[in-house]
Amino acid sequence: MKNYLTNMFWGPADHDEFSNGIQLAINQVAPHGIFTGDNIFTFGRNLSFLDDEKFIAAFSKHVETDAEKAIIWRINILCWAARQSLRIEGDFVECACYKGISARIICDYVEFGKRDKGYYLYDLFEHSSEMSHHSMPEHSIDLYTQVKKRFADLRQVHVTQGAVPEILHQVSPNKIAFLHLDLNNASAELGALELLFDRVSTGGIIILDDYGWLAYRAQKEAEDPFFEKRGYRVLELPTGQGLVIK
Ligand SMILES: C[S@@+](CC[C@H](N)C(=O)[O-])C[C@H]1O[C@@H](n2cnc3c(N)ncnc32)[C@H](O)[C@@H]1O
Repeated sequence: MKNYLTNMFWGPADHDEFSNGIQLAINQVAPHGIFTGDNIFTFGRNLSFLDDEKFIAAFSKHVETDAEKAIIWRINILCWAARQSLRIEGDFVECACYKGISARIICDYVEFGKRDKGYYLYDLFEHSSEMSHHSMPEHSIDLYTQVKKRFADLRQVHVTQGAVPEILHQVSPNKIAFLHLDLNNASAELGALELLFDRVSTGGIIILDDYGWLAYRAQKEAEDPFFEKRGYRVLELPTGQGLVIK
């Protein structure tokens, strides 16, 4: 049985002390099936994604930072959802893609180049003091070009720079099989859902990256009534993601 240990937890006041505590907890259990990172600690778990060679190859090829390494479980959930969604009519959509890391891992994992589907990626890619969205370390005027380069070999991937939801009026598919929302912004996510939810095919999968995180609780509070009104309920996953199968 494999373990996957990272030291990346969001929120502890003293990271060294927190790590010592995790180590003390690990010392109390059999050293199998341990996962630490991204605010998850497990032991005695199969961690099946670590045995998925195709997933590990795609993940290892594209992941760049310690923070990205820590979110392997979240990325595996995306890969699972994308793989399931290949059977569903419609295209793939991600609002927002930032560096395009998780979308690129998905493309390799599901061999997107061989699929008769489009993949629509959106982001602002830049940040300045006048913009209201959350800044990220690699936002820059070059990021849009860099992300387009990351997908240069995949003609079905459309990278669009602009603000969600407004940009969706200009470029967006009519039928959606897989929708990944990761905007860290309640009104933008709700706006995206209002425009795109009706286009998600029956059986299509929606992943809400920030749904379970207290720091982004405003998103859950906006999304719960949206889904309840339509007869759906979001499943909060232990990774902090929300899952809806339409
Ligand atoms: C956490 S990152 C996305 C990470 C990406 N999903 C991944 O898996 O690697 C959040 C992104 O949302 C983008 N963003 C926030 N508000 C936006 C909006 N209204 N329209 C477009 N992009 C937005 C930011 O620029 C940022 O790059």
